[in-house]
Amino acid sequence: MSTSAAERSLVLIKPDAVRRGLVGEILGRFERKGLVIEEMVLRTMDAELADQHYAEHVDKAFYPPLKDFMTGGPLVAVVISGDEAIDVVRAMIGATDGRKAAAGTLRGDLSLSNRENLVHASDSPDSAKRELALWFPHL
Ligand code: PPS
Repeated sequence: MSTSAAERSLVLIKPDAVRRGLVGEILGRFERKGLVIEEMVLRTMDAELADQHYAEHVDKAFYPPLKDFMTGGPLVAVVISGDEAIDVVRAMIGATDGRKAAAGTLRGDLSLSNRENLVHASDSPDSAKRELALWFPHL
């Protein structure tokens, strides 16, 4: 017997995806999978939110260019829900580096970069809780 566990994940459709006109394609894949879009907003991330969102990465060498990229244009923040949504979404987006991500994943099919890799998604229930509170505090 299979069990189900409805979860919420925080997804950011990053500025490269917005610039490239891939928002519909990315949302469509999540919808066709059966996941549900609960909330969605087009927003430009400011420096303070970037530092909070990427708190575990702020001291890493790759953070300054990542911050410039993520604050450099509008992104789409989405609350996505469904059975095991956190792991399901992570599997659908693929490995961090688009050059190494498996074909069939969003990054594997549509990105050649580990920075401009189209989508961020929460990687655990704890990070989902933290990220959802940052982006959608009313939930
Ligand atoms: S780590 O160190 O393994 O936890 O990092 P990882 O989970 O692979 O990546 C965390 C986020 O940092 C971005 N990233 C980079 N940005 C710019 N340059 C380089 N070299 C780089 N490497 C990783 C990566 O896209 C991840 O962004 P999010 O938004 O979490 O997907």
